Amino acid sequence: MSQKEYSNKIIEGDILNVLQKLPDDFVDMGVTSPPYNKGENKKGWLVANVKYSNGTDKIDEKIYQNNQISVLNELFRIIKPGGSFFYNHKLRWERGTMLHPMDWIRQTKWSVRQEIIWDRMIAGNIRGWRFWQVEERIYWLYKPYNENFIGEELKSKHALLSSIWRFSPEQNNSHPAPFPLALPVRSIYSIMDEKRGLIIDPYCGSGTTLIAAKILNHNFIGIEISKEYINLANQRLKNYKDEEKYAYEEINRHIVKKTFKERKANGEFTGKYGKKKDMIRKSNEELELFTYD
Ligand SMILES: C[S@@+](CC[C@H](N)C(=O)[O-])C[C@H]1O[C@@H](n2cnc3c(N)ncnc32)[C@H](O)[C@@H]1O
Repeated sequence: MSQKEYSNKIIEGDILNVLQKLPDDFVDMGVTSPPYNKGENKKGWLVANVKYSNGTDKIDEKIYQNNQISVLNELFRIIKPGGSFFYNHKLRWERGTMLHPMDWIRQTKWSVRQEIIWDRMIAGNIRGWRFWQVEERIYWLYKPYNENFIGEELKSKHALLSSIWRFSPEQNNSHPAPFPLALPVRSIYSIMDEKRGLIIDPYCGSGTTLIAAKILNHNFIGIEISKEYINLANQRLKNYKDEEKYAYEEINRHIVKKTFKERKANGEFTGKYGKKKDMIRKSNEELELFTYD
């Protein structure tokens, strides 16, 4: 099958069965949030638990992690060299032991380009066993090209958004665990910029990544096990124009107020060594600290 035959479709089925049938090196990038294996019967106080229409969100943790390793390795195979995958997950605890996404990500073929903190600005589980967990993680995974593990530089207008992303959770969506549209818009726009390509979300749920891809003029592939969520995603895709304004709000955050050249011309801080008067020197040669506003 050619790239065109897979494009702009949601494939119904189990993620691994579907991924195993897709060709090598043909997708530009992806964004996803898998089920977190959180335990449907351990209720949070004040917060409803996630319950999917098809399948369970609690299996043996070892089986869960091995499955995630297989899924991530299949995604590595189908994504082009030099391509990226944004994997949203979170820290969990099982009987007091922390389960960290890096426990299994490090066992995959991916190179971890960055760990991004998603500040959801609201606690997911309001209990006092720990400080309220307001954050999730987004792993920017990178498929090296010709043994180059560093990859291309981001444009400043994207890189300036920093490694802490602040978006509130999505409220207007009947899916039990959607992410906000800004999250895939930021991921895709930062990596693809003005290039056009094929974007995958292999646990596409209500289709948030697919909407982002469509608004940004890319082709997409979704995979989802639940017919109910596929119907929801297709309905959203039909009415994608209704969501354009939310995507543009995110796109408008990608700006550089002043370039390095403009700062330098005005004698403003450029980030390189700072101005002499702002420096505290340990010795004549050794720069210990500089401050800036
Ligand atoms: C966290 S949700 C993704 C939500 C999505 N990001 C959105 O904004 O709507 C995970 C999705 O994975 C789907 N899923 C669970 N197990 C699956 C499997 N084995 N194969 C494919 N999809 C699966 C669930 O039905 C659910 O919709």
